[in-house]
Amino acid sequence: HAADAHRTDLMTITRYVLNEQSKYPESRGDFTILLNHIVLGCKFVCSAVNKAGLAKLIGLAGETNVQGEEQKKLDVLSNEVFIKSLVSSGRTCILVSEEDEEATFVEPSKRGKYCVVFDPLDGSSNIDCAVSIGTIFGIYMVKDSHEPTLDDVLQPGKHMLAAGYCMYGSSCTLVLSTGEGVHGFTLDPSLGEFILTHPDIKIPKKGKIYSVNEGNAKNWDGPTAKYALIKYVEKCKFPKDGSSSKSLRYIGSMVADVHRTLLYGGIFLYPADKKSPNGKLRVLYEVFPMSFLTEQAGGQAFTGKQRALDLVPTKIHERSPIFLGSYDDVEEIKALYAAEG
Ligand code: AHG
Ligand code: MN
Ligand code: MN
Ligand code: MN
Repeated sequence: HAADAHRTDLMTITRYVLNEQSKYPESRGDFTILLNHIVLGCKFVCSAVNKAGLAKLIGLAGETNVQGEEQKKLDVLSNEVFIKSLVSSGRTCILVSEEDEEATFVEPSKRGKYCVVFDPLDGSSNIDCAVSIGTIFGIYMVKDSHEPTLDDVLQPGKHMLAAGYCMYGSSCTLVLSTGEGVHGFTLDPSLGEFILTHPDIKIPKKGKIYSVNEGNAKNWDGPTAKYALIKYVEKCKFPKDGSSSKSLRYIGSMVADVHRTLLYGGIFLYPADKKSPNGKLRVLYEVFPMSFLTEQAGGQAFTGKQRALDLVPTKIHERSPIFLGSYDDVEEIKALYAAEG
């Protein structure tokens, strides 16, 4: 029966990637091996997050990171897990993590051809109150077989081969794109496997939700935030064309806010302001992966100046403002920025 076939024909994330890989006869399965090691890290962090309260993993690690943020125990733990898992895959050569000031250059004997940029635990401020958090990652190919340098990771987001996130929420959901659309996999804890549950995610063309930290509004009129942003947010709240106002949903974990945006539609904004002239979100391991996924799902991602994926970073922890989500919603804010010139 169809029902039985559905139950027994399990499309796991590994099988999905192998199917993709079979389109490239010359590939030797390196990407599949790399992805399996990322998935291993996600399973570990999922388990640690779920028992954080019990396993005394709540609270601060007593150190601060290059961002000047106090590191949570889970920030440090998840970073170590991903670094170790990625190095042991033998398929990476440079790793950039939010939690490490310098990039990790993998020793020659374990070196592969991929560079991974990642935020091991996104939304750390939400750990202690059990609100959804996540891991975000992006994958580049080294530019060529020379000795790896930072240039291999300071590439525009449009050069990413793949990007994804794993959200540790009411379920553990891994959302991935290898450039062929966006697919969501949910962890079946009884199998320890991520099963395809959201094939071919497409973001609604227009949404009814805007997602921004309005608590920063008094700083929005800084030189780079200009008035287009203020006009756009006003438009969401007091539409002039008689349409209904948008709902405000803001969780404060980028992974959770973007996941909702991809599934329900709408727009997520983290603008620049007087305090942070380049915004808060980091280009390599927050802005690029989420912009890659949004475009692959049929949406747009805009920095206020340009298409987010066209940005060429010059530093590994560089920040950028970001407006991403439903195609039509981002088109509106782009028009306001263009009108301002
Ligand atoms: P991280 O926990 O990895 O440092 O990232 C936190 C980010 C992102 O998850 C979220 O969108 C943003 O911080 C929220 O910032 P505000 O609290 O300033 O709104
Ligand atoms: Mn942080
Ligand atoms: Mn983050
Ligand atoms: Mn983080």
